[in-house]
Amino acid sequence: MAIQKVGVVGFGAMGSGIAQACAQAGFDVTVRDVDQAALDRGFGVVDGSLARLVKAGRATEADAKAARGRIRGTTALGDLKDSDLVIEAALEIIETKREIFAELDRICPPATILASNTSSLPIVEMAAATKRPDRVAGLHFFNPVAVMQLVEIVRALTTSEETVAALREFAERLGKRGIVCKDTPGFVVNRLLVPYLLGAIRALEEGVAAPDEIDDAVKLGLRHPMGPFELLDYTGLDINLHVANVFYDEFKDPSMAAPPLLRRMVAAGHLGRKSGRGFYEYDEKGQRKR
Ligand SMILES: NC(=O)c1ccc[n+]([C@@H]2O[C@H](COP(=O)([O-])OP(=O)(O)OC[C@H]3O[C@@H](n4cnc5c(N)ncnc54)[C@H](O)[C@@H]3O)[C@@H](O)[C@H]2O)c1
Repeated sequence: MAIQKVGVVGFGAMGSGIAQACAQAGFDVTVRDVDQAALDRGFGVVDGSLARLVKAGRATEADAKAARGRIRGTTALGDLKDSDLVIEAALEIIETKREIFAELDRICPPATILASNTSSLPIVEMAAATKRPDRVAGLHFFNPVAVMQLVEIVRALTTSEETVAALREFAERLGKRGIVCKDTPGFVVNRLLVPYLLGAIRALEEGVAAPDEIDDAVKLGLRHPMGPFELLDYTGLDINLHVANVFYDEFKDPSMAAPPLLRRMVAAGHLGRKSGRGFYEYDEKGQRKR
């Protein structure tokens, strides 16, 4: 089944990026959020992102306008009933996601594929809330969606080969690389990233080197665009602590356990860029002071 119409649930940071990427690839998109204010915010993010692409010469004015015209906002989940694929990007709360999947299952025709953009929750728990577990999968995009080329296609225990094949083709049509992986915590990218980031904090605890020395070592020695402490501050220490806790609960692997320093920095409110202080300090504009 060729996907033509895409539904998106949640018009926040990720939903807006996903809706925009789909519209730029020529799909008709209907986005649902809880109220008009949330829809207005989502459209504001899309407009800003399209304007930046035009300014950078990565899209023409006409293409950006056409893409914008393909996105329709709604507060009624029922308006997603004609979708061939629905991508859920609402809150990272399993009860919320299960309710959304159960409702989508009632609304959408049996052939519609239902996907979640969750970063940490088991896809199979959402599949089990529907009567079509074979047509439920993970579709994990990266932030910012307009820039990041990867999509993780997550195959739950119940996901059919046809669903995986349709999502592979969909990722290709978005101009992204879709990699297929199992429904395990962190999928591929976070499974590798989290122990690495926690290892950097442990190295700091042990006095191996200062944060900027470790960051420079990784940037210059491994050609990473950011060092681990820059990345931790950028994504938020609280988010990283939460993810480490989820991983440790599941795997009981010491490399996934939150180091004491991380726990204490979060308790102190040193959350990174968003709180003005993490491993580095930031001014009101989020620029690094030192
Ligand atoms: N932010 C990231 O870097 C990132 C990356 C990959 C995956 N994710 C995942 O994507 C999902 C969304 O994250 P986000 O950062 O965009 O969050 P966000 O808070 O920016 O956006 C969530 C949006 O969902 C809306 N919402 C809440 N309940 C809803 C419902 N029942 N129906 C429709 N809309 C509803 C909210 O009003 C909000 O606009 C989460 O599952 C998150 O784990 C986030």
